[in-house]
Amino acid sequence: MKFSTLASSVLLLAFSADAFTPTSLVRTSTALNVAAEPPSTSAASGEWSPESWKSKVASQMPVYDDEAELDDAVNRLKRCSPLVFAGEVRALHEQLARACHGQGFLLMGGDCAEAFNEFNVDHVRDSFRVILQMALVLTFGSAMPVIKVGRMAGQFAKPRSEPDEVRGDVSLPSYRGDIINSEEFTAEARRNNPHNMVEAYHQSAQTLNILRAFATGGYADISRLQAWNLDFVEQTEEGSRYRKFATKVDESLRFMKAIGVDTSSDTFAKTDFFTAHECLLLPYEQALTRKDSTTGKWYDCSAHMLWVGERTRELDGAHLEFTRGIGNPLGVKISDKCTPEELLNICDTMNPNNTPGKLTIIVRMGAEKLRKNLPGLIRAVQREGKSVIWISDPVHGNTRKTDNGFKTRDFDNIRAELRAFFDVHEEMGSHPGGVHLEMTGEDVTECTGGVSDVTEETLADRYNTYCDPRLNGSQALEIAFLIAERMRKRSGLPPIE
Ligand code: PEP
Ligand code: CO
Repeated sequence: MKFSTLASSVLLLAFSADAFTPTSLVRTSTALNVAAEPPSTSAASGEWSPESWKSKVASQMPVYDDEAELDDAVNRLKRCSPLVFAGEVRALHEQLARACHGQGFLLMGGDCAEAFNEFNVDHVRDSFRVILQMALVLTFGSAMPVIKVGRMAGQFAKPRSEPDEVRGDVSLPSYRGDIINSEEFTAEARRNNPHNMVEAYHQSAQTLNILRAFATGGYADISRLQAWNLDFVEQTEEGSRYRKFATKVDESLRFMKAIGVDTSSDTFAKTDFFTAHECLLLPYEQALTRKDSTTGKWYDCSAHMLWVGERTRELDGAHLEFTRGIGNPLGVKISDKCTPEELLNICDTMNPNNTPGKLTIIVRMGAEKLRKNLPGLIRAVQREGKSVIWISDPVHGNTRKTDNGFKTRDFDNIRAELRAFFDVHEEMGSHPGGVHLEMTGEDVTECTGGVSDVTEETLADRYNTYCDPRLNGSQALEIAFLIAERMRKRSGLPPIE
């Protein structure tokens, strides 16, 4: 074995051990500490409670036409068991705290919107395995633990730029995601139905059940890393690149085994996997907010992590009011419209104790605006000593409509925004802490370019998204290799190949 190969193998061993730490997802003993019944609360002025958001303006919130029906749905949810548990949420927070100090990389990915009709085990599995592949590549590249978070098991509600959609002379309320109404263009389908929240809860419970099984039941065992290659990706350039890479990791594992490391232990056989979604539909989030009896803290048990979107992050709005009181790690999306002063106020509201790992800033601006705006934002945060994790969402600032009517994203623009994000952090001496992507493991044709052969002409072939265009499995893997190479260069390590 050449020294460079040996060195990178040993390096990889150290990182893979961290990245594949056994999960607390199923074995948490604190699970029972979360109260099954949320106590009823009332909003006291100035004080936080799970419903104090109701005293604020809530943008992007659906209007329900039947109050009794809404109450019925919310009461059903309040009787449902938490989807995630406080102990798991704290485990994620600890990992994020390390990332906040430059010792970790956050990988967030999944559908733009989950959908009732699209749900099946294979879909969840395919997203899960492409995230595993990406995490492996990124662990190698970043030389640090990669925290895996799926935009899954609750990513249903969507903000819309227009409240109504007009087709010909018919105008109907916009589709806001399956948790609110349905996509079909009829008055009945577009009615906001509170019982969709209950259906979304049950689908999320199933998704989580599958994810927990995959994370801890043998699927994620690092010795199976060759099997993670998705069938269609296998045929692509990125697929064969992954295959070569996986062979290298296999060699390292054999080397470890030979020197006496137990590669069948939980460290190698199981992984941590967390969930996150946009905290948009507040009646749903409130109904799943429970008090942890160990710490007395409130947790939104609909997901491990919640983020507030670019369109709902008003300082005095309902979404910041709700999130400021929950114990979960939080994210906030920011475009070029966010000023340094506004960002500092957001930090004070969402992370008043300046706790490391509590707040992730998800930057989505497009490359050009990012180069112009991000330095000032980082400077303000550094000057005021705010603890944040900076991550890049290189997709939401790069959506465009094609002449033939498809919403798409070009791989070149996504790559340019990522490059800008890394360049700016390098200049500012800050940590590029992660990436947030709309992606799927499936062979969809929704974003153009990359080494994939998706073009404007072939978008129609498998354009399956319910909302924004997603990177397919091969394009997502290509992004992982790009980031990995960039991180290796940054750390003075040789290229992967
Ligand atoms: C999203 O993440 O799907 C989304 C709507 O993002 P943003 O808030 O950045 O527009
Ligand atoms: Co989106």
